[in-house]
Amino acid sequence: MKETVKTWTVLDILKVTEAAFRERGITNPRLNAELLLADTTGDSRINLYLNFEKPLTENEVSGYRDKVKRRLKFEPLQYIRGKTEFYSLEFRVTPDVLIPRQETEILVEKVLEYIKESGIECPKILEIGTGSGCISIAITANSECNIRAFDVSNEAIKVAELNSAANGTAEKVKFEAKDFFDPEVTFEGFDIIVSNPPYISAQDVPGLNEEVNGYEPYIALTDDGDGLSFYKKIFELYNASQNKPAVFLEIGDGKKEAIVKLLSESDIKNYNIHNDLMNMPRVLEIKGTENI
Ligand SMILES: C[S@@+](CC[C@H](N)C(=O)[O-])C[C@H]1O[C@@H](n2cnc3c(N)ncnc32)[C@H](O)[C@@H]1O
Repeated sequence: MKETVKTWTVLDILKVTEAAFRERGITNPRLNAELLLADTTGDSRINLYLNFEKPLTENEVSGYRDKVKRRLKFEPLQYIRGKTEFYSLEFRVTPDVLIPRQETEILVEKVLEYIKESGIECPKILEIGTGSGCISIAITANSECNIRAFDVSNEAIKVAELNSAANGTAEKVKFEAKDFFDPEVTFEGFDIIVSNPPYISAQDVPGLNEEVNGYEPYIALTDDGDGLSFYKKIFELYNASQNKPAVFLEIGDGKKEAIVKLLSESDIKNYNIHNDLMNMPRVLEIKGTENI
């Protein structure tokens, strides 16, 4: 006797997936289910809603199941989808790069505000630890400037270059595989330094959410030390530079006090700390020669 295969409709499969995600403790279970299904069928989410009773093909069901299984193992939605949104632009993401975070958008915003206010024509910007390229690409897509962006990971640089081409900024951002701790790195010639450095301490990594410590690159999360080594080196290079660039750095949760102590030890007084939308200290801005 021929085995009958269950025919799934859009609505049935979404309900079952939502319940499974909810039971597993995945946040926004319905949205996760809808986005993965929309990617699988090639429909928009709106179209899923308009076609709740539509039967899915066997191929669609098996493709969707593979994605759902990955999500149930806490693989981030963005890696399964291979893309995410940052600063209203689309970015390709692979497990070689950190998933761009919404809280990093304020770093981009502060740099763009500074570019406008400083009046520097075509400022020269250096980004340290570019990952997917999201910060540099968002800045250049919204201003007239040139950026040099580097990352120690060759694989991340490849992803960043693809993102830059896809977002039309390839002419303005020069990506390079380079170690920030290379002694030849200097701030000379740059008007602005920007970075979202790996700021989690090595001892805090095991306590992170499984989606983060199980999937995102270790070197993107931590400096494998106290989480402050990038700030220390950036402050040293700032003090050593003749024409001081303006510096914009993301501040990790709970890191403000340690950074303020480092600033004082480095004798840097001309800075501001900007809070994010959740009122958390998020961006350190050190003034450049233009504003001292
Ligand atoms: C917190 S992630 C930031 C990625 C991206 N800019 C963002 O905001 O989504 C830190 C980045 O620093 C890079 N990185 C780690 N160690 C580095 C080093 N010694 N020199 C240069 N980049 C490094 C990592 O590969 C990672 O891409």
